[in-house]
Amino acid sequence: MAGRERLKLIVVSNRGPVSYARDDDGERVVRRGGGGLATALRSLVAYHDVTWIASAMNGEDRAVASENDGAFEDVGRDGSRYLLRLVAHDAQQYDWFYNVVSNPILWFLQHYLWDLAEQPNVDHGLHHAWQEGYVPVNRAFADAVLEELERQPDAAVFFHDYHLYLAPRFVREARPDVRLAHFVHIPWPEADYWHVLPLEIRRAIHDGLLANDSVGFHTRRWRRNFMRSAEDIVGATCDFTRESLGYEGRRVAVAATPISVEPSEFEELAESPPVLEAGRRLAAERPEKVILRVDRTDPSKNIVRGFRAFELYLEAHPEMYRRVVLRALLDPSRQEIPQYAEYIAAIQREARRVNMRFQQEGWTPIDLVIGDDFPEVVAAYKDYDALLVNAIFDGLNLVAKEAPLVNERNGVLILSENAGAHEELGDWALSVHPFDVAAQADAIHAALTMPEAERRSRIDAIRSWVREHDLASWVDAQVQAVAAEDAAVRR
Ligand code: F6P
Repeated sequence: MAGRERLKLIVVSNRGPVSYARDDDGERVVRRGGGGLATALRSLVAYHDVTWIASAMNGEDRAVASENDGAFEDVGRDGSRYLLRLVAHDAQQYDWFYNVVSNPILWFLQHYLWDLAEQPNVDHGLHHAWQEGYVPVNRAFADAVLEELERQPDAAVFFHDYHLYLAPRFVREARPDVRLAHFVHIPWPEADYWHVLPLEIRRAIHDGLLANDSVGFHTRRWRRNFMRSAEDIVGATCDFTRESLGYEGRRVAVAATPISVEPSEFEELAESPPVLEAGRRLAAERPEKVILRVDRTDPSKNIVRGFRAFELYLEAHPEMYRRVVLRALLDPSRQEIPQYAEYIAAIQREARRVNMRFQQEGWTPIDLVIGDDFPEVVAAYKDYDALLVNAIFDGLNLVAKEAPLVNERNGVLILSENAGAHEELGDWALSVHPFDVAAQADAIHAALTMPEAERRSRIDAIRSWVREHDLASWVDAQVQAVAAEDAAVRR
């Protein structure tokens, strides 16, 4: 990053880097937003002149938005200053945007989560939520971008994720020459699967994304799928050699650059007092072997099947009774959406069932913790013998990169072949097919019985990879992609 040009960037994402609230004394407090995306994008702020546009997520955010007409200054965790602009959407429109279209439709589609014989129902409600929710919220983001571009006409715009597929087109229509880039942090499914959505919607999504000068994904697999679906759905021309698409006389670069983490951040965190304190709590109840999983309670994470795999493992290995625990630290997510509320219930049911079957005095095989305790997560990262990441599909999965960095037991990574991180880390993980619970049970056994030297060489290789391909290099690649949107790319 050193020596690189400092760019003016307008970063646009639904969830921003901070959120506001009131404490017990009625004082306004700021909370640093969680989630992989917000954490990763924070380092952009350190190196570039960033104006960050995000949704106001709660009442206090809305109050802050109305007190500041436009962008206001905020200070990042490392002391870097940037401008934040919170967009206060109409509450009903935002509900349709987030709770009807973005998550139950786009997220489900892009992770292949439907049983197509039953779902989805493309009914009037969905058409309405699209027209009156997703479209206007994207329009509001585009309007905010255009206003910021008035102040900084030479800034490049960097959109993020599935919430914002239409905004680039709205911006492009008003500002044909502005530099636009988009990063999609979740999988891109195959062309035919997009046909679950009506023509008008699947076209608008592809057309919106192709209004950018560059579109980025975490893997070559998602990139390939996007290029093919863009060809199929809106007639873009694929150039696999130049990794670009031709569309409406313009060239759109399509990149595969996996996001990463900041190793020093985790190494420091690992030694911080709250993590050490959480570590002491975990150590007090530690059995001989610990299998860890850390996820949001999202159906794409395949948590229920993971419990079934552990059940099969216990069935086959009675010698491990009382000696092993599956520790599941799960962050409750998107609970206003019925599928997510039902999924938490399914997780709890399944854990209870497996525990009822095997538990003995003083031993509960699945230690299920539903909550959001980051120091506890980092302490658990240090302490596992096997890390289970068996996602159905996952854009990348940052846990697979974070946890090995600080693990102190040469823990083995068990990794779904459908997690984006598999493209990078697959050689050093035990690969599993996410639907094959029998194979996952075998992988747990293989991980817990693997010789020390092999475990060490695998985790060392993962660490070296992550240190070499760190967040700073991802940020650098994104910024180069934005900066490279010159005549060569538009040719
Ligand atoms: O890319 C997926 C993502 O947007 C991540 O940034 C984040 O961890 C997660 O989804 C959070 O989703 P939400 O903002 O709906 O809580």
